[in-house]
Amino acid sequence: MAAPDSPSMLRNLWYYALPGAALPRGQMVARTILGEPMLFARDAAGQVFALLDVCPHRGMPLTEGSFDGREVECCYHGWRFDRGGRCTAIPWLVDGQEVDVQRIKVRRFPAREHLGNVWVHAGAPDADEAALPELPPLPDIGVPDPNLAVEMDFACHIDQAVIGLMDPAHGPFVHTSWWWRPNRSMQVKEKAFEPAPLGFRMKRHQPASNSRAYYLFLGGQPETEITFRLPGVRVEQIRAGRHQVVQMTAVTPIDEATTRISHVIYWTVPWLSALKPALRRIAHRFIDQDRMIVEKQQRGLKHRQPMMLVKDADTLARWYFGLKKEFAQAESEGREFRNPVPETVLRWRS
Ligand code: FES
Ligand SMILES: [Fe+2]
Repeated sequence: MAAPDSPSMLRNLWYYALPGAALPRGQMVARTILGEPMLFARDAAGQVFALLDVCPHRGMPLTEGSFDGREVECCYHGWRFDRGGRCTAIPWLVDGQEVDVQRIKVRRFPAREHLGNVWVHAGAPDADEAALPELPPLPDIGVPDPNLAVEMDFACHIDQAVIGLMDPAHGPFVHTSWWWRPNRSMQVKEKAFEPAPLGFRMKRHQPASNSRAYYLFLGGQPETEITFRLPGVRVEQIRAGRHQVVQMTAVTPIDEATTRISHVIYWTVPWLSALKPALRRIAHRFIDQDRMIVEKQQRGLKHRQPMMLVKDADTLARWYFGLKKEFAQAESEGREFRNPVPETVLRWRS
């Protein structure tokens, strides 16, 4: 359930759709995003595109049909559509039956691919593609595709997934695995924040010594910088000596009650690749701990709204709702987005 004073789901933004590796050339994949069935395909030239996965003739999901790398063919009556969603053929027409097939269209969604991630823009149907904003920025550390990609669905609204994932105070109670925090050690954390485009940034700092994984996997003295951006994209860039690790967690609503979490990791540390199966299990376990906790929370939230947001540890959640509200307001008033996040230092124990 969304917070009562915030719009439920923002539309006019880029959403993470799927890892590029999940979309081989000449194939299509069905995904539901913001309650809409979408077809993602990669054409013969390697370009990705997205259409509404509904045939305009009689509603058949187009992904039930076929794709030859150029056109999608509906499985019901064989109507064909190009990557722009324009109809190119209605096979049953006979000579003399004039139909301007080009005027029949499937809704097209702008889709872009960057560093092995496919994004979709969920804004107005006829948005001018050239005028769309840039994709959420992801630092390019010279690794063209994620070394690791994990996806998981949470049975909750996007707001609960976002604030659950960025919550700074649940670590000692939820992520208690030996490789992360062997016990409930808690320290006072003090982090400096500043506004960043459509979000905020936790300024570059050295992670706490009770965050064991950093030391375990990187060695040396790492430094990390974390940015958050609407609709729910968290990017962490870790530098340790000459090595870098970038991880991104992107949150995409499937519908009001289900949210997909996509986590991708890039690294320049060659020996980490040998540990990939173990790292995959760890990433999966970590996200699954977040999933289990927010899913349990849903049972109680039905009976207690609104939530309490207390002091610094809950400030990120407050900022998230503030950013969302301002985004919707700026849009409805047709003005520039004014970032409500202040430059500040937050303190909490975790
Ligand atoms: S339903 Fe798609 S061609 Fe008829
Ligand atoms: Fe977590």
